[in-house]
Order: sequence, then C-alpha cells, then structure tokens
Amino acid sequence: MASLGVLTGGGDCPGLNAAIRAIVRGGVSQGYEVVGMRHGFRGLARGETVTLDRNSVAGILPRGGTILGSSSYDCFREERGVELVTMTTRALELDGVVAIGGEGTLGIAHRLHAEHGFPVVGVPKTIDNDIAGTDVTIGFDTAVHICTEAIDRLHTTAESHNRVMVVEVMGRNTGWIAAAAGVAGGADIILVPELPTTIEEVADHVRKRHARGRNFSIVVAAEGYRLTRESGEQEAPVVREHDEYGYERLGGIGRVIADELAGLTGFDTRVTVLGHVQRGGTPTARDRLLATRLGLKAVEIASAGRWGHMAAVRGNEIVEVPLEEATAAPRSVPRAWLESGRVVA
Ligand code: F6P
Repeated sequence: MASLGVLTGGGDCPGLNAAIRAIVRGGVSQGYEVVGMRHGFRGLARGETVTLDRNSVAGILPRGGTILGSSSYDCFREERGVELVTMTTRALELDGVVAIGGEGTLGIAHRLHAEHGFPVVGVPKTIDNDIAGTDVTIGFDTAVHICTEAIDRLHTTAESHNRVMVVEVMGRNTGWIAAAAGVAGGADIILVPELPTTIEEVADHVRKRHARGRNFSIVVAAEGYRLTRESGEQEAPVVREHDEYGYERLGGIGRVIADELAGLTGFDTRVTVLGHVQRGGTPTARDRLLATRLGLKAVEIASAGRWGHMAAVRGNEIVEVPLEEATAAPRSVPRAWLESGRVVA
C-alpha cells in the first residue's frame, strides 16, 4: 500500500490540524496510508510516528495547535540528521512526506529535495505570512483577528486615560500582522521592519493628534521593527534569547518604543505584548478553508510525484510552486499597503 508521511515543523499556528485532517482524508481517498511524524523532522529522524486514519482526525478541524506536535529540529544541523531522516523514510516505506511549515521547515524540505532527491511536498504555514510564492499562509488570518480585537479593546482603555498604547505583535522579518491588524483596528501608527519610520516621526504624529484633541494614540509595532532615529542611526532588532541552533528569538521592541515615546512626548505610555496569544486557539473559518484546500492540493502534488513543490495560493486559485521559489527570501508587505495605513491613520 502506498504510504505518505505528514509533519508539522516550527512554530505552531491555528489551522495546522485542519491541514492534517485534509491530508489524511485526501490521502486515504487516494489509497494512501497516512503516517504522522511526531514533532516535525525530529519524528522523521527518530521514527516517532502515529498512524492516522479518518477516525483519528475526526473533530480536529476547529482545534488550534497541532495534534502531531512540532519542533524546530533541523536535520542539517544535527549529527547524522539527514542520514537518519532518509533511513527512517525508507524503513517506514514512505513514498514521500508532506511538510507543513514556515521559513525553517520549508527550507529544510527544499534542501532535502534539492541536495538528496528526498520526496517532499510543502504546505505554507506561519502567522507571519512571509512565505514567498503564496499570497497567504495558514494561521495569518486568525492572528490578524486576534490582534485586531486586542487593538479594539486597547482603544477604549487608551481613550479613558489619555494614554499612548504600544502594541507589540509578531513578525520577525516582515510586518504583515502589524500592517493588517493595524489597518483593520484603526491604529494611528504602524511600525514594521520593511519601513524605517523614525521614532521622532512617531512622536511628532502622536503630538499632532493630541493637539487636534485626540488625547490617545495606538502604536502597533512588529517585533522585528528596528528602532530608527532622525540621525539615521538604526538599532538591531531586540533579541530576547537564542534557540538551540543560535537562532534569534525576538521580543521587547514594544517596551523600547514606549520608553522613547514617553521621553520625547511626556505622554503617559503603556505597552502590551500579545506574544503567543496570537498563535493560540481556534482557527478562523478562512484559515480552516485555506488549510483544507492547501492540504488537499499537497496530496494531489504528492500522488503525481511532483516532489520539491509547495501547495500555494495565487488570487483565488490553489496552485503549486517550486520549493526553491518559496524559500528564496521572505515576502515583504508591499509599500502600497503600508502607505494605505498612513493615509487612514
Ligand atoms: O515565525 C512565527 C513566529 O510566531 C514569529 O513571529 C516569532 O518570532 C516566533 O515564531 C516565536 O517563536 P517561538 O515559539 O520559538 O517563541
């Protein structure tokens, strides 16, 4: 019997279970036995598996997280990692593997295919929405909803106390969540890694609003925003810690911005860091639908043997793109989006 592996790697997000469910149900209907790998590529290297059938994925559609577990295990950075992955794939008699992931996981999938001919298909997920080759990734819509609701709530308390509220959202390389939730929530200032807005410009905007009688302001900042000064000086992103491979974990720019703004304007300022709340809970209907469509497409790509590709969205269509294209560089927020945020602020 043909056999297909499925794994979720990197940071979790709402919609992963919907994708797993679609891959299992789509796979079973194509005659595959579907095997889940525990905790991403780590499960594939160590042979930690779980057999998935129609029943085992019943009821998981609205559940956040991933029933398979996830990790950032990188077989290229572990001793004998690639060898273990290929050996286990052979031992389990898998025809191929569907890897649901973001920048890191899809990068590993691409290298495995390009350098070792490994049979893998990608599915793009990350709340950051920064994967090239697709218009949108699983998890983004839910994160934007969560952040927009938070911004709405912060408006009422900001207004009551005449405060400047700085909201820090996720977004390492790009500011998709900040831009989308900022516009949807009516933020006054949106700070993203793509645009070097200076802290003096922000202070000036806040002062002008307050002078016009708007006695509060909401500033939304992506965690990857780099503090920039009028002098041209730009600080490095704020790093909280490093992971086991030395990869930077960001977080803390909200506090830096708030302190700078309080110093420049004298206004009462508070910080809210939304953190992993953005990745938790039930996926929106849009994310469930997206995950289902991408999952089914991944099975179609796998059954046609078109390894080294990723299921993707272009407009309203689900398409396939080479993993090489998807992993070349992060996809930035277009300038027009950011300008529209400024116009309506
Ligand atoms: O890439 C998704 C993401 O949520 C980033 O926005 C964030 O920087 C990172 O993951 C946080 O990762 P961790 O779960 O390791 O703290």
